[in-house]
Amino acid sequence: MTGIPEIRVLFDEEAIAVRVDAIAKAISQDNPHDLLVVAVLKGSFIFAADLARALHRAGSAPEMEFLHLSSYGRGTVSSGEVKVLRDIESDVTGRDVILVDDILESGRTLRFASDMIAKRGAKSVRVAALLDKPGHRMADIQSDYTGFECPDKFVVGYGMDMGHAWRQLPFIGYVPQEGDA
Ligand code: IMP
Ligand code: MG
Repeated sequence: MTGIPEIRVLFDEEAIAVRVDAIAKAISQDNPHDLLVVAVLKGSFIFAADLARALHRAGSAPEMEFLHLSSYGRGTVSSGEVKVLRDIESDVTGRDVILVDDILESGRTLRFASDMIAKRGAKSVRVAALLDKPGHRMADIQSDYTGFECPDKFVVGYGMDMGHAWRQLPFIGYVPQEGDA
């Protein structure tokens, strides 16, 4: 087994589980109509899987969909351009839709996805973002259900990657830079 000493824990498994349960309860209490949960791939895949099960425990019966968008390529800086790599298959007409994503940063990805789903006739489109990095917002969009406010670091784990690595980590961590405590 290879060690991962360079990754520091930011939010551990227990802290994540508490927030995922709280988000599921908040969603269920809003009593969504014909709920469709859309995981924005790839980064949200673990969050979406845990959220689906937490929604079940909270008494909701969501259908799950998968929207693969790309805006970053292999780098760590957004190109600003959003492409649909794989669209959802379900009809969203008249449904309450929740877009699930790992990080809301510039907001371009989720603004694009939200507009696309709204145009197809969804009753509502809301956002559940595991992490909110509010300092970098370029598009007009907020998270309706948020896991954590994220410090201004490049984070990995729990589905999130750096150059395709580290998605498998069960916690959210970051690679310390010079000057980090
Ligand atoms: P934006 O809100 O359109 O800028 O895009 C946010 C997306 O960029 C997220 O869904 C992630 O896929 C990616 N991203 C932004 N910050 C990070 C980070 O710190 N680690 C890993 N991916 C990130
Ligand atoms: Mg993403």
